[in-house]
Amino acid sequence: MKKTIGTLALFGLIAAGCAAMVSDEEREAQALAMMKASFKESGQAKLDRLDQDDMQKMCSRYHGDKVMPRDVGEKLEKEQQALIKFPADGKLVGDWKSGERIAQSGVGKQFSDNPANPNGANCYACHQLSKAELAYGTIGPSLYNFGKIRGFTPEMQKYAFSKVYNSQAFSACSSMPRFGHSGILTEAQIKDVVALLMDPESPVNK
Ligand code: HEC
Repeated sequence: MKKTIGTLALFGLIAAGCAAMVSDEEREAQALAMMKASFKESGQAKLDRLDQDDMQKMCSRYHGDKVMPRDVGEKLEKEQQALIKFPADGKLVGDWKSGERIAQSGVGKQFSDNPANPNGANCYACHQLSKAELAYGTIGPSLYNFGKIRGFTPEMQKYAFSKVYNSQAFSACSSMPRFGHSGILTEAQIKDVVALLMDPESPVNK
């Protein structure tokens, strides 16, 4: 009997040892395989949406009480900044009225949406923008009076464009979508959303 308990304990130790030896990569591969087995592709929603890029992988490794060291975050942000594509015509601000429609719309990218139609950005799901819209989420900071407070400068236009294009370029692991980088919004749509934030005539700045 003693021997059996001893053997069991030994097995327990070996099992615990093995569990600890599984690398991050192996664990991630197992989790990915499990998720891919449990989702079905439908319409434009393909299983490759579960594949993470290097930045997303790093963000998944640092969660809960495992805080990402600042230098790691800064390196990731620099890499994301380098991926931003600015408009060839140098103009960053479009039409705020169109920007308001894009910010209001949550249509797009779902399996049931027609990929030929333009996507919305659903900014209001996370931000307050104009005062007239009372239904908004608070995951992100209020953007009411964004241009008025931050200044209608070319630098701020550039920041607004860059932030919407690739939110991770300024805060690694942000929960805000990377609208340009991920192909959710077109360049012209991003300019219109920037106008919503930066045009002095936009209701955001009234
Ligand atoms: C899923 C939620 C979510 C959506 C959708 C979203 N954002 Fe954000 N946004 C955030 C969060 C969270 C932050 C704060 C963290 C950060 O800076 O990334 C933020 C930050 C920002 C900032 C920086 C604010 C500052 O003070 O510098 C801007 C500008 C912004 N969002 C604009 C937008 C616009 C425009 C849209 C729509 C095109 C949008 N966001 C959609 C979550 C979201």
